[in-house]
Amino acid sequence: MTLLKLPPLLDPHVHLREPGATHKEDWDTGTAAALAGGYTQVLAMPNTQPPITDAPALALSQTAARAKARCDYGIYLGAGADNMETAAALAPHTCGLKMYLDQTFGSLRMDDLASLMAHMARWPAHKPLAVHAEGRTVAAAILVAHLAGRAVHICHVSRKDEIELIHAAKERGLQVTCEVTPHHLFLTADTPSTLARPIREGFREVRPRLATEGDRLALWAHLSAIDCFATDHAPHTIPEKTGPNPPPGFPGLETAVALLLGAVHSGRLTVEDITLRMHTNIRRIFGLPDQPDTFIEIDPDLEWTVRAQEMFSRCGWSPWEGQTLRGRVVRTVLRGKVAYEYGKVSAQPGTGKDIAQYPIPNTKD
Ligand code: NCD
Ligand code: ZN
Repeated sequence: MTLLKLPPLLDPHVHLREPGATHKEDWDTGTAAALAGGYTQVLAMPNTQPPITDAPALALSQTAARAKARCDYGIYLGAGADNMETAAALAPHTCGLKMYLDQTFGSLRMDDLASLMAHMARWPAHKPLAVHAEGRTVAAAILVAHLAGRAVHICHVSRKDEIELIHAAKERGLQVTCEVTPHHLFLTADTPSTLARPIREGFREVRPRLATEGDRLALWAHLSAIDCFATDHAPHTIPEKTGPNPPPGFPGLETAVALLLGAVHSGRLTVEDITLRMHTNIRRIFGLPDQPDTFIEIDPDLEWTVRAQEMFSRCGWSPWEGQTLRGRVVRTVLRGKVAYEYGKVSAQPGTGKDIAQYPIPNTKD
């Protein structure tokens, strides 16, 4: 058995649910899942309860993260219809601004062009700006960012027309980057599914929706335009997914790299493709700080069967339940210390650091 030693994985898109929905996940379980999946830095989305759109909400999230996170993290601020000035002022304390231009889970959604333009103009040009956009709003986000003279990152691209547009924009030198999730690379709306057991439609709910086989193949065909693989780890519990109004979202931190290693085994990807899109590009695009003596070890041939019961995420299910995957992270080392090893997370809550350059001082200190 030869272990591969690789740079640590970084995820620019996770939902850790705290504050407000810790029955789904919290800073402790979410960052334990991250370490088990090989991640040492995760950037947490602001669609919590309350949403992270002002200083008090940001402070709530920071306080919980400081006490509970086991790996390093950043916290996004959410763009709303009336927080342009507040958002810009809080920028140094965050990892970026997240704008929801399409249907999502939670109340953070911006529908009007004026708000989009105002945020793009005010948010500091050197800070990351990530957008949930689908279809025509992808075009709107790219154009408005270009006119504002700034870069924009398009989250979880899922469709052929979107990736073609982004690719064309990149070829013309526009400052646009994008991420794709493993579920959009491996599943379609028609995948006759082992997708979670018991198989209920609610388990398939995710935003953006699983698309067609043509969309999925287009993502692979435009691999060169995909900057990052991000999980969009979005845990919801089994009762929620099987209930009358199933919320959209899949957990993903503990399966992502194994799924992508499957594509290495089938000749679709190289290990370098993975490192580029799960470490190097993410560090560059999001300006993430170096973590000294930090790396992962992967057993590329280890076969294992996905069992949500054995996972660290609190949600209790996985879209890949029962599937046998080949390749797994066996060790995650953070700042010289083993943080995860063969099924056991040893990094303690509170050892994770905020990547923001200027975290708001802890009032308890
Ligand atoms: C996300 C969630 O549950 O927070 N759901 C999802 O389907 N991806 C929200 C989002 O990223 O839009
Ligand atoms: Zn998301």
